[in-house]
Amino acid sequence: MTKYVTTCGKLYLAGEYAVLTPGQSALIKNINIRMQAEIDFSETYQLVSDMFNYTVDLNPDQNYALIQETILVMEEFLTDQGLKLRPVRLSISGKMERDGKKFGIGSSGSVVLLTIKAMAELYDLSLSRDSLFRLATYILVKRGDNGSMGDLACIAFEDLILYQSFDRQILAQLIQEIPLRQVLASDWGYQIKPVSSQLTCQFLVGWTQEPSISAEMITQVKSAITPQFLSETEKATQKLTKAIEQGNQQGSIQQINRISELLANLSPLIYTEDLVALRQATEGLEAVAKSSGSGGGDCGIALVFSKVAEKKIKERWQELGIELLYASEL
Ligand code: PMV
Ligand code: MG
Repeated sequence: MTKYVTTCGKLYLAGEYAVLTPGQSALIKNINIRMQAEIDFSETYQLVSDMFNYTVDLNPDQNYALIQETILVMEEFLTDQGLKLRPVRLSISGKMERDGKKFGIGSSGSVVLLTIKAMAELYDLSLSRDSLFRLATYILVKRGDNGSMGDLACIAFEDLILYQSFDRQILAQLIQEIPLRQVLASDWGYQIKPVSSQLTCQFLVGWTQEPSISAEMITQVKSAITPQFLSETEKATQKLTKAIEQGNQQGSIQQINRISELLANLSPLIYTEDLVALRQATEGLEAVAKSSGSGGGDCGIALVFSKVAEKKIKERWQELGIELLYASEL
């Protein structure tokens, strides 16, 4: 019987770059722009994504490498659960991009989680959000991804989360040394905590339409990270989380501005001209905005506290050529 699953996107509110250091925190929001998968057992392996529009089996294909590796790890996981494997047909749609330009809301993390969920669903296995996170992280760390895995935590939990990162180098070592089931059972040292917002505000996402590659941004910015940047960002991220939980508007504005300033001072690559303009569009209004994630393009986010401000920001963004990609309550 054909099974269907979906996954969301994500955007960073706070803690970017800092969260690359183990023990640091980031606040990350789920974005309800979704990918879909359809899966069934089949005579042969058939994988197809609307990103590429051709079908592959499990023979290595560069475009499908992430999906193929996820299938292989899931098959090892399912075998460990005592299940008998059969070939699958998997079809993925809902590319998080337009005209070949990605939105930058976590499509690679989302496609890994989508494939994990599809395989689990097909084999009637119910996985906790934490198991989803661990399996997805296992795959990305095994592939040498240089991110914090905060995107995976948010997409697995489908919630606004406070993520405390862990040492991925130790995990990479474990992956080399011990089997999957032992890696999954060991203590990795991260924390994922859903955050419940008491703010009355609109959350807006502005898309600059300039794609930015996080892995490259990390390589270029990482050496600028100082202990002071880490401690100041951590302080502000914790304060922001409290302010959101307590419905404290002024506190939220203040801390987002602080985090934004820390990022702007970290590297000139983060705030592109468009992102500076996106942020400045909140000037004089009951609102606050900042770049999101690695910066260098992609998206910025805004918290907006009045109808008047919302209308004005949307107008200003439109004039600037910044597309309103998504809006929801926080
Ligand atoms: O640009 P995004 O949304 O992929 O976010 C990257 C956030 C960084 O902290 C710069 C990297 C990471 O993986 O945490
Ligand atoms: Mg990005």
